[in-house]
Amino acid sequence: MAALARSVLVTGSNRGIGLELVRQLAASPQAPQHIFATCRDPDGQELCLLSPTINLLKITINTVDLPSIRRAVQVVESCLEGQGLNLLVNNAGIGSHATLQSVDSQEMLAAFATNVVGPLQVAKEFLPLLEKAAKGAQTTRLSCSRAVIVNVSSKVGSIGLCLGVLEAPMYPYRASKAAQNMVTRCLAAELRDKGILCTAIHPGWVKTDMGTEQAPMTVERSVQGILAVLGSLSQETSGAFLDWEGNSLPW
Ligand SMILES: NC(=O)c1ccc[n+]([C@@H]2O[C@H](COP(=O)([O-])OP(=O)(O)OC[C@H]3O[C@@H](n4cnc5c(N)ncnc54)[C@H](OP(=O)(O)O)[C@@H]3O)[C@@H](O)[C@H]2O)c1
Repeated sequence: MAALARSVLVTGSNRGIGLELVRQLAASPQAPQHIFATCRDPDGQELCLLSPTINLLKITINTVDLPSIRRAVQVVESCLEGQGLNLLVNNAGIGSHATLQSVDSQEMLAAFATNVVGPLQVAKEFLPLLEKAAKGAQTTRLSCSRAVIVNVSSKVGSIGLCLGVLEAPMYPYRASKAAQNMVTRCLAAELRDKGILCTAIHPGWVKTDMGTEQAPMTVERSVQGILAVLGSLSQETSGAFLDWEGNSLPW
């Protein structure tokens, strides 16, 4: 089986789903040649527990800090030595349980900064490297071995489903994920002809700091599913909203 992609960058990779993504990618027999594990504090405890492998590079990216993104682009570009970046996973995100009674503008804006502006800025800054990968690929088909942007979204951001609002209002989180979904659709439409596939993935309700211990699914199971879905992406799933099992979700 071929590697999922030659090069992969994950944001928010120091814990939770992001950490497990880089852990499984690095442990895969067909590991990517370059794994860029990015987070706010690359010297943090959890990321240090990953055995340093030749293909794993820890880089600082605070997704709401443009200079940190731009510095990371330079580091990644020099590591890739003229090749492009195949797969960008916008995983970093923050939750919020604010209700109609407790919500305020500060919490709304914080959620939008991290969950909408962050992934858009990261995609925008890494676009030249994604375009390079798309142009240099041996195939004209859209896939992770060419160039892909994955935005980690959430089912609770689906306007079509509008799940469990009374039990879990989460206004900032839901609204920001719905807005992030629109960004995904726009990127998919605009970048398709450049050979770059964009998709949104819901990881399930997962046992992480954000998902809490109450969540039914382990992070290992969720990430196994996400990686299988990433491996199956094609023109048909460009601009799709999928869950960790590959099921299509309404926007
Ligand atoms: N867990 C679930 O049940 C679930 C369900 C649906 C969707 N999701 C989505 O899955 C993604 C990962 O969630 P998770 O469950 O792994 O959450 P988590 O355990 O809370 O981890 C969140 C990650 O995002 C990072 N992050 C937050 N703000 C950042 C910023 N400005 N710059 C860089 N990194 C930042 C955190 O870094 P720090 O350590 O520096 O804070 C951390 O690495 C999120 O987008 C989330 O919305 C999760």
